[in-house]
Amino acid sequence: MSLYEEWSGIFNEIRSCRKCRLHESRTNPVPGEGPLTARVVVIGEAPGRKEDESGTPFVGPAGKFLNTLLESAGLKREEVFITNIVKCRPPGNRKPRRDEISQCLGYLSRQLRLLKPRVLILLGNTAAETIYGLAGVEWHGVMKDHGKVFEIKVFGVEALSIPTFHPAAALYNPRLKNIILEDFTKVVKPIIAGLEKGSSQP
Ligand code: URA
Repeated sequence: MSLYEEWSGIFNEIRSCRKCRLHESRTNPVPGEGPLTARVVVIGEAPGRKEDESGTPFVGPAGKFLNTLLESAGLKREEVFITNIVKCRPPGNRKPRRDEISQCLGYLSRQLRLLKPRVLILLGNTAAETIYGLAGVEWHGVMKDHGKVFEIKVFGVEALSIPTFHPAAALYNPRLKNIILEDFTKVVKPIIAGLEKGSSQP
C-alpha cells in the first residue's frame, strides 16, 4: 500500500467510524486538514459546531484566530496539518470524555506515524494533557506551562512540542489574546525559522 493510500484509508475509516457515542450526534466527522508533507501539526480538542457542519477543522471563530496565529509564526495554514484529539463533535461542545479520547487516539497515532512531524503545536489543556500523558511529560496545566518547549516521543515520533492556550479561550478572555500571540511569535516562530534553515520547506 502506498503512503497516500494509507493516509486516505485513515480518513475513510474516520468518516465511517462508530467506535464511540459521538458518532450518534455528529453531522460530519472531522479527520483533519493539511498535506502529507506537513512537518508541523496543530492539535486541538474536538470539532465545534462549524467544524461539524463542514467536516473541516478550525473553520469557526477560533479557526480565524488560529490562521492569524499561524501567520504570525511564519506558517501558512495550507502547509500544516490541523486536527483534533477527537474527530467528532461532542454534543453542546462539552469536553470529550476519557473513553471517547481513548477510542479515538488510534487515528491520531496513525496520522502522526505517517506524517512524522518535527513540531507539534498543542492547543489547550485537553490536547496537551493527552499528548504529554502519553509521552510521560509532567504537565502542570496550560496556565503554568504554555509557551514552553518539550522534546517528546509520542506514538514513536520524536518532535518538539509547544503547548499554548486554545484560541477559543481568547474569544472569551481577550487578555489571553496577546499571551497566545506571544507564544506563537516568541516560541513557535524561531523554531519554524530553524526548520527552514535545515530545508526548503517547514
Ligand atoms: N476547537 C477545536 O478544538 N477544534 C476545532 O476544530 C474547532 C474548535
